[in-house]
Amino acid sequence: MNNRADIIVGIQWGDEGKGRIVDYYAREYDIVSRFGGGDNAGHSIRVGDTKLALRIVPSGVLQQHCQLFIGGGTVVSIAGLTGELDSLASHGVDVSRIRISDRAHVVFPYHAAADKAAEEARGAAAIGTTGRGIGPAYVDKVARSGITFGDLLRKEALAEKLRLKGAEDLIATTLDAAERLRPHIVDGVSYLHDALEAGRKILIEGAQGTLLDVGYGTYPYVTSSHTISGGACIGLGIGPSAIGRIVGVVKAYCTRVGGGPFPSELLDETGERLRKNGAEFGVVTGRPRRCGWFDAVAARYASRVNGLTSAVITKLDVLTGFERLGIVTGYRLGGKPVGFSAAGQPGLELDIEYVDGWSEDISGVRRIADLPEAALSYVRRLESILGVPIEFVSVGPERSELAV
Ligand code: GDP
Ligand code: IMO
Ligand code: MG
Repeated sequence: MNNRADIIVGIQWGDEGKGRIVDYYAREYDIVSRFGGGDNAGHSIRVGDTKLALRIVPSGVLQQHCQLFIGGGTVVSIAGLTGELDSLASHGVDVSRIRISDRAHVVFPYHAAADKAAEEARGAAAIGTTGRGIGPAYVDKVARSGITFGDLLRKEALAEKLRLKGAEDLIATTLDAAERLRPHIVDGVSYLHDALEAGRKILIEGAQGTLLDVGYGTYPYVTSSHTISGGACIGLGIGPSAIGRIVGVVKAYCTRVGGGPFPSELLDETGERLRKNGAEFGVVTGRPRRCGWFDAVAARYASRVNGLTSAVITKLDVLTGFERLGIVTGYRLGGKPVGFSAAGQPGLELDIEYVDGWSEDISGVRRIADLPEAALSYVRRLESILGVPIEFVSVGPERSELAV
């Protein structure tokens, strides 16, 4: 098979700017597809005055020629999806292009309730979830008691499954919603493979970030799905041989929302300044994002576990005006170098290197080579840390604010 699907994934703790990067790349693709997560994601895109915060619909939606596909590895709230379809339609978006796999699992209100109750029970050790029911929906999937979008098309079976869940009260509204969603629900495996075989170009959009992966992130402070590039094969039902490029989206500094280890976090006014300059507040929950320096240990780890073939740096403009920029270049325990797996261990020491900042406004720069010397050298440094070529650097949230 000659046709390949390309993947875009976040390499930190989410919110790297995947949405705006997918929106840009999507111009060259026929189908943009999500493979995991649900409406815990918030992907912002901006084209001229149009601003969207997408939750489950793939970020190719403002490229009129693209089909949008929500893959089988996702967990999707019916109310969330229909609400998003309505909101997009009110922006003049043609939502008939949106398809969802019959394999995707439904997130019900009882999942959100269980999510909130589990967080309360964790007390001080709370994960800081988005409260959307993502974890409990994946638990049901693995426990083989979940309900899929395919089930929504089989009325009797659906009613029976909801009865088994003790959720009779949801039967009527779910059946109504199922009718509405019927035109969007497809045999996901046939849909994607037929497209691949027909030579259509597929772009796969990651959600969350590598360090939130349930297996390879800062467990247990993670989400409940595989967010790394390998998750795309599982979440879409395609083999590794179908994958072409794997592009990592790399924020020029680090952020994290929710609890859990964050070695390079800055709890001082520098962190506050990053938050303010970068408008680092969650799209989904509005929570302030924790901010810190670029972490080379985490970045190298993420480059490896994803098998990146290239990367894109985002939000470089946010660093303008800092006299010097820190890069965490090593972790140590008891004086000995350790890898990313040691993040969160008591007594972790950091090697931090400081490099020169720049003061010039870079938001108008459209060629990487035209960046101020210190900014260019920062980009080249990140490139050597990641070990893959940097394709673009984004210098503002609008689609055109990219240096190539
Ligand atoms: P995602 O979850 O990875 O899609 O990222 P989010 O949309 O949650 O968060 C990224 C935020 O940064 C959004 O508010 C974007 O509009 C904004 N953003 C993206 N790229 C840039 C950039 O290069 N510069 C600035 N200043 N903001 C950006
Ligand atoms: P995007 O796609 C940032 C975080 C939550 C919490 C943990 C578990 O916009 O980058 P969950 O609700 O998934 O069980 O929460 O994961 N989290 C995200 N953080 N960006 C996201 O998505 C996230 N999705 C989940 O804050 O710490
Ligand atoms: Mg986000």
